[in-house]
Amino acid sequence: MTPPLLSIDNVTKRYGAVTALERVSFDVYPGEVLALLGDNGAGKSTLIKIIAGAQPPSSGRLIFDGREVSFAGPAEAKAVGIETVYQDLSLCPNADVVANFFMGRERVRRFLGLEWLQERAMEEETREALAGIGARVPNLRAKVETLSGGQRQAIELARFVHWGGRLVLLDEPFAALGVTQTRRGLELIEQVRARGVAVIVITHNVLHAFQVADRMVVLHQGRVAGVRRRQDTSHEEIVALITTGSAAMAA
Ligand SMILES: Nc1ncnc2c1ncn2[C@@H]1O[C@H](COP(=O)(O)OP(=O)(O)OP(=O)(O)O)[C@@H](O)[C@H]1O
Ligand SMILES: [Mg+2]
Repeated sequence: MTPPLLSIDNVTKRYGAVTALERVSFDVYPGEVLALLGDNGAGKSTLIKIIAGAQPPSSGRLIFDGREVSFAGPAEAKAVGIETVYQDLSLCPNADVVANFFMGRERVRRFLGLEWLQERAMEEETREALAGIGARVPNLRAKVETLSGGQRQAIELARFVHWGGRLVLLDEPFAALGVTQTRRGLELIEQVRARGVAVIVITHNVLHAFQVADRMVVLHQGRVAGVRRRQDTSHEEIVALITTGSAAMAA
């Protein structure tokens, strides 16, 4: 069997007197989409922040690719291929799509002491990467501030996959999107997964979870209420886990 890409092992997080996460454990496999569900305050965002290196756990371990990791910040998580994709926080609004796609990794040609950007090659590389995950961004020279939230997400996901990302974290990626953009977003997640990337997606929408996730992890008051494979559960059971922390009601 394929070993897990990430093991979350007994992670607890306290904020003063508040216990946001209590001994949370589960595994994430490469090429799997895992939906993280739970009511408001269940601990979903806290867990995502810990995985992404934005906050340390109070106790417990993260094992990534077989090694225990401890991230001092998001840059360290990013360096091993773990990243949170937000709708626009990490894009530069007044630069165009290609510039955002490369950002710090520009292809430069050097000749006789001169340097210049290989704009045509960069544009082509961006186009191919976007097409590779089925993203539709009509004008690669448009400034990112003129694009929709869904298109920005697509650029970030394509960039993530292209530069060797392994685990992408999405916190409510569809919250601000309309119906069509949400459907495209769900399709993008499928494409990203098909590249062998692991995806953890937080959603309040159980229908979305059933559309896109291989497995669902439900948090309830900071604890894992249940982990289910999509084919082994039902809408009712997941809703019961979210609202009561127990599947008994749905049985
Ligand atoms: N920085 C913080 N300081 C103090 N308490 C916090 C902090 N961040 C989160 N909490 C608390 O931890 C618990 C879990 O919060 P978290 O944001 O992880 O929930 P969530 O599942 O993402 O909820 P939502 O669905 O509303 O986004 C809540 O009780 C919250 O008030
Ligand atoms: Mg949250």
